[in-house]
Amino acid sequence: MMPSIHQSKIKTNKNLTILSIESSCDDTACALVQSDGTVFAEQIYSQKEHIEFGGVVPEIAARAHLSHLSTLVKKTITQAQINWSEIDAIAATCGPGLIGGVIVGSSFAKGLALAQNLPFIGINHIEAHALTVRIPNISSVQVQFPYLLFLTSGGHCQCIHVTNIGEYQRLGGTIDDAAGEAFDKVAKMLGLSWPGGPALEALAKEGDENAFSLPRPLYGRPGCDFSFSGLKTAVANLLTGYENTDTLPRQLAADIAASFQKAITTAIINRLENAIKMVPDTTLLATAGGVAANQYLRKRLLALAEQYKLPFIAPPMKYCTDNAVMIGWAAIEILHQASNTNKLIDDISLLPRPRWPLSEMSERFKH
Ligand code: KG4
Ligand code: ZN
Repeated sequence: MMPSIHQSKIKTNKNLTILSIESSCDDTACALVQSDGTVFAEQIYSQKEHIEFGGVVPEIAARAHLSHLSTLVKKTITQAQINWSEIDAIAATCGPGLIGGVIVGSSFAKGLALAQNLPFIGINHIEAHALTVRIPNISSVQVQFPYLLFLTSGGHCQCIHVTNIGEYQRLGGTIDDAAGEAFDKVAKMLGLSWPGGPALEALAKEGDENAFSLPRPLYGRPGCDFSFSGLKTAVANLLTGYENTDTLPRQLAADIAASFQKAITTAIINRLENAIKMVPDTTLLATAGGVAANQYLRKRLLALAEQYKLPFIAPPMKYCTDNAVMIGWAAIEILHQASNTNKLIDDISLLPRPRWPLSEMSERFKH
């Protein structure tokens, strides 16, 4: 007999326990998270299948999610030593992201929800990044609204004013490449292996950041959009004649890496300074995404925040990059907010979405 699905409202006055799944790019992840911020278990498989291709191959990513997910979920439950009866809901990324992976993860999670007669909560991946800094004990301060988030990864580069659960004002975003994409492409031109960001940062330490004057796209213009393709082209022009990276002298490569890192960071800081001025009520500056691992960028973000007397929060690296804890945490925030508005949330019929604007996220709390 088919189970009757989720007719009873979740009691959100209690400490919820959520099983969550993330599969929107090249990380397959599962976690068990509780409302007080306790992470009972977390598992992640960062797909190695793409290394030989020098970038994420969507079809391969979807297949890899499919092969690893079931084992990861089992490991998560075993690690947490938890019974299904103690779990209140299942959450999974429903978008935005690579659609194959999102279909795999969300369908798997819906299957579990149906089998265990639990509610399914579909999570917007960007919303989850935006709420991560609010996980209790993740940072030195308990983050309150409103705050400014700079999200910077291989696929995303945007600045969001987070004013409440479900209420996000996108102040600006990239008009071409994401910052991580620019790091990866420049790293490739310098003969570094993928993903290039960490390798480029390491090489830049050996170089002179003032060796080359590179463009800082959109610097000094109003607004908080970003653009990195011109900078990437300028680096390509510097490397004319060195298409075979084996012939590239290491010192030259290091000088270019350092000059690129300085230029991209300077451009980013200029755009974020505009963002801070756009939302004078903001209480802090936060960052997330893989590029937020870059120590040079972090230092400049901290200096910018200090200049405007704002605290600066960067979650631990494993919660800056893609992970399932942030998906479970977003579900917890949504369920508690839903109980405040007497709304019953069940997203079992929500379809996976390659694009899913944050502006739509307030709709779930409307009657
Ligand atoms: O958030 P993430 O793990 O995955 C998504 O793209 O969603 O971010 C990966 C991106 C890659 O482009 C990688 O090169 C970049 O983050 N990245 C860095 C650093 N570590 C990772 N970029 C610059 N400096 C780093 N230290
Ligand atoms: Zn992400």
